[in-house]
Amino acid sequence: MMQEIQIKDKIFRVMIEAEKIQSRINFLASQINEDYKDKKPLFLGVLNGAFLFAAGLFKGINIECEISFIRVKSYSGTESTGQVKNLIGLNENIQGRHIIVIEDIVDTGDTARYLVDELKKQHPASVKFATMLFKPKALKQPFNPDYIGFEIEPEFVVGYGLDYDELGRNLNDIYVLKK
Ligand code: IMP
Repeated sequence: MMQEIQIKDKIFRVMIEAEKIQSRINFLASQINEDYKDKKPLFLGVLNGAFLFAAGLFKGINIECEISFIRVKSYSGTESTGQVKNLIGLNENIQGRHIIVIEDIVDTGDTARYLVDELKKQHPASVKFATMLFKPKALKQPFNPDYIGFEIEPEFVVGYGLDYDELGRNLNDIYVLKK
């Protein structure tokens, strides 16, 4: 593992190593296995960022479950509406299902809030939220993820699915922007 890496104009240093990430993810998987025994949950991974977290988590899930992936498209609306979001790729009928959203990071909380509200409109039995990283100090509105890999300071990170300008998603460790 490299202690420091450069992506474009920025230098990042290693923050969480791959082994530590996987052992924490294994712990989350064992919690979910207990909480969802006999509930046949539907996992919804949020692309692109959550693909590695989702894969790492699913290796440890041993209960009956379904797995699918969705996307949130953000585009700038008018000034009054701010960022408009759109949920795409949800092909399943989620009514009456137990849903677990799998996200890479909760930063301002806007995406997480939007996703949960949007999914609830379709009357699932329950919606819970799993995130690999959580920046509680960056929240713009209250949001409590149900399963959290690591709480981090409000700093910019890359790796393990997370990108800087679409680069760095393939890194095995999580890196933080060096100041
Ligand atoms: P939100 O601000 O909680 O809505 O987060 C929206 C999205 O911003 C996340 O799903 C990530 O894709 C991205 N994001 C937030 N913080 C970081 C970061 O530190 N590195 C890379 N992407 C981030």
